[in-house]
Amino acid sequence: MKPLKKIAITGAAGNVAYSLIFRIAHGDLFGRDVSVGLHLIDVPETQSYLRGLEMELEDCAFPLLQEIKIGSDPYLLFQNADYLLFLGARPRTAGMERKDLLLDNGPIFYEQGKILNEVASPHVRVLVAGNPCNTNCLILLHQADRIQPRSFYALSRLDQNRAVHELMKKAQVGVQDVRRLVVWGNHSPTAVIDFSNASIQGKEAAAVISDCQWLEEELPRKIQQRGMEVIRCRGKSSAASAASAIIDAFQSILTPTAPDDLYSMGVYSQSNPYGVDADLVFSFPCRTDKQGNVQIASELSWGSFLKEKITLSEKELIQERDLVRNFLP
Ligand code: LMR
Repeated sequence: MKPLKKIAITGAAGNVAYSLIFRIAHGDLFGRDVSVGLHLIDVPETQSYLRGLEMELEDCAFPLLQEIKIGSDPYLLFQNADYLLFLGARPRTAGMERKDLLLDNGPIFYEQGKILNEVASPHVRVLVAGNPCNTNCLILLHQADRIQPRSFYALSRLDQNRAVHELMKKAQVGVQDVRRLVVWGNHSPTAVIDFSNASIQGKEAAAVISDCQWLEEELPRKIQQRGMEVIRCRGKSSAASAASAIIDAFQSILTPTAPDDLYSMGVYSQSNPYGVDADLVFSFPCRTDKQGNVQIASELSWGSFLKEKITLSEKELIQERDLVRNFLP
């Protein structure tokens, strides 16, 4: 009998969920040796949609899918989950920045954080992808003090994946040739794409791509505006690429990282080795150790270019935190 892992997902009637849930049920998240339980949560008006989703999941006859629960009550559906994924948030539309969603989403994350604290397992791991994900995650972790802050994560992997793709295209190499590419700070237009610590085929990225203007200006601009570009073209925010980044992020959390590798993850900044404000959810270079703990990698260096950009992202997160003061202790 295979072990069973249960994941509760808010915003399960949304776009990202539709691209994600079938991949999880297929075994893409926990692997082929683990059975899957799905707890799908969304607001009462979407329950008929969720029933349709449940039927589709059943009709796939996924061998690993052992349990499906649907509903609108997080009190019931957060219980017994090993992982919680927060997708549910008001979506961004054309012309909005992610932080424009703060005041709509603050109360949602505040309430859900309280419920999380009441009913979730103290060992649960929590990933927030609903935007603005860093500050939503900060609200959650402050409400849920039964759960260690180090078990909360915000998704910066989509920015990392976007940047890896741009670098591989520019250098005309494969995806696997680009490594140690870190995104620092907020998932927003201030996100910092750190090419200075990245390598391409084992060489410094800046030695392979000698076009400084492209690295310092064009690359960040592309990544920072990519979410908005997708909204402009599709009329909706990224869904399948966000789902794929969520799978990558969970896999990085769950698998020990090779000593010479890194991944980007929004984590609680308390005691971080870079002197970033200690009460933010901030994207840092991370590694998962053999015990499954996510640790901030401390050995990266900031040149003056990087420092200036990272400080801007930090300032933006502090401003976001000020805006949601009412939902923080
Ligand atoms: C993205 O980066 O595409 C997502 O976070 C969705 C959005 O609103 O930009």
